[in-house]
Amino acid sequence: MTTDLKIMAQRVFVARNLAALRRRLAAFRAAGETVALVPTMGALHEGHLSLVRLAQRKADRVTVSVFVNPSQFAPHEDLAAYPRTWTSDLAALSHLKVDLIWAPTVGVMYPPGFATRVAPEGPARAGLEDKFRPHFFGGVATVVAKLFLQCAPDFAVFGEKDFQQLKVVTQMVQDLAMPVRIVPGRTMRDRDGLALSSRNAYLTPEQRRVAPTLYRVLRESAADIRHRRPIATVLGRGRKAIARAGFSLDYLEARHADTLQPVRSLKDGSVRLLVAARLGTTRLIDNVGV
Ligand code: PAJ
Repeated sequence: MTTDLKIMAQRVFVARNLAALRRRLAAFRAAGETVALVPTMGALHEGHLSLVRLAQRKADRVTVSVFVNPSQFAPHEDLAAYPRTWTSDLAALSHLKVDLIWAPTVGVMYPPGFATRVAPEGPARAGLEDKFRPHFFGGVATVVAKLFLQCAPDFAVFGEKDFQQLKVVTQMVQDLAMPVRIVPGRTMRDRDGLALSSRNAYLTPEQRRVAPTLYRVLRESAADIRHRRPIATVLGRGRKAIARAGFSLDYLEARHADTLQPVRSLKDGSVRLLVAARLGTTRLIDNVGV
């Protein structure tokens, strides 16, 4: 049985092994076409789809990878429970007329004996996500480096929603001279401001009602900082508001938008506010520019 699955009715080509992927990409290259990659873990929502549309504006052909990457989950995290919605992902991507889906199995990505990891530093050690998920960016950088080598895209699109991840990938590409241009895509939100996330599906109705507090606090804090209120005071007030709403706060920080280093005033450069907080067992992250 062939492992290349061509779903005629939906006109989208799904590659499940490297030979099929490379054959398809070689055809694009032979026609002189540029390629953009949108890496995802599936459970696609409008945020992912906005990145696909951005990719389509950038390149002639768009590849979307769908791979729930075990190496970026710690043993206690939600790998087994992570939402997997292959049928609706496929429908959404074929509706958007994506050219190629790269959906490797764990065995293809990490065959027995796999022994190499990318160890990112700099923005990966900023004391934000890395402080609470120490294994995370090593797993992300390793899989993203491998995806880039497998797909050899001209462009790769990453969401600002995962701001530190965007910086880690940008730094890796620069440091290792990877021939790919990283394109940031803005954060898509529900009408009440909550950033779209596959993990929002875990929220109870009551938690879902509280969840937009994060974005509200980010926006109010950004406005206060723009109005020259001291950053430390603004963050203190924001942390209290988040805790009061019922979250366990991991961090609310003001960082330099490029280096992710702490900033104390607007004079330190372009400022980004980043937050991570838990509602019950669900961990939410978000960020805004000041
Ligand atoms: P995943 O969480 O599936 O996200 C895939 C891409 O969608 C990421 O670039 C993320 O920043 C972007 N994204 C998520 N929510 C978004 C939103 N509300 N608006 C805009 N973009 C959004 O991030 C990963 O997967 C993985 O770590 C991956 C990079 C695929 C490596 O395994």
